[in-house]
Amino acid sequence: MFPILEARLLATAVKQFKIAAPEIAKKRKPGQFIVLRIHEEGERIPLTIADADAEAGTITLIFQEVGKSTEQLGKLKAGDTVSDLIGPLGVPTHIEKYGTVVCVGGGIGIAPVYPIAKAMREAGNTVISIIGARTKNLLILEEEMARVSHSLKVSTDDGSYGYHGFVSDILQDIIDEGMTINLVVAIGPVPMMRVVCNVTKNHKIKTVVSLNPIMVDATGMCGACRVTVGGRTRFVCVDGPEFDGHEVNFAELVKRQRAYLNQEKLSLETFRHQGGACMGGIS
Ligand code: FES
Repeated sequence: MFPILEARLLATAVKQFKIAAPEIAKKRKPGQFIVLRIHEEGERIPLTIADADAEAGTITLIFQEVGKSTEQLGKLKAGDTVSDLIGPLGVPTHIEKYGTVVCVGGGIGIAPVYPIAKAMREAGNTVISIIGARTKNLLILEEEMARVSHSLKVSTDDGSYGYHGFVSDILQDIIDEGMTINLVVAIGPVPMMRVVCNVTKNHKIKTVVSLNPIMVDATGMCGACRVTVGGRTRFVCVDGPEFDGHEVNFAELVKRQRAYLNQEKLSLETFRHQGGACMGGIS
């Protein structure tokens, strides 16, 4: 059992949990994730580790309530527990001194970008961050990102805060201004990562993306998370989650992510109809 020490609402339907998990807190590196089960019959939920405190033995998870299991998770409060937590999983981000690194985060993707931006800065890079959301109420971690970045730019799709437009527009402007960029790290919705990669590909700027396909076992055995990168099949849970964005087959990823949309919708409706109980049932 892993106790939830803190539960906070960060934005509309976006929660932040601080969970006691000393072994994971000690070992985790930026870019890695955990898999969590709320209870013994629960769905396995993969979540990036947004932050950790090795001394306090805690990890910070940020998630958006997008389906039955995440909505169920969001009902938990400080003092509650989750039954299983495995990790750290995945290959850590390759951190080195590149020069100027642009960290781009969209929506809930800002959560995994944050530890990477922090580590890139600690490695001596100049970190320019661009974060965005659909609307102001969905924007997270602005203060934290400002703290770890030399410069932070913010956009909202509807213009309710910051630049009116997309993170990729800001990136294009920075490139057009003639800044030398050595690496771009982009994490967010697939269409956002795809557009960012199109922008950087034109300028031959190395771009790393973090993928979030459907996962089941998260140990490389089931094949659920397979993606095509550079014409090769890769498993995101063990080979990723980060890949060269210019090599990713995004069209296939979108198709695979949508494979169970109807079942996911039905599961959420049934859960809500039953009053959203926290224990038992099929996820
Ligand atoms: S989730 Fe099963 S192989 Fe990656």
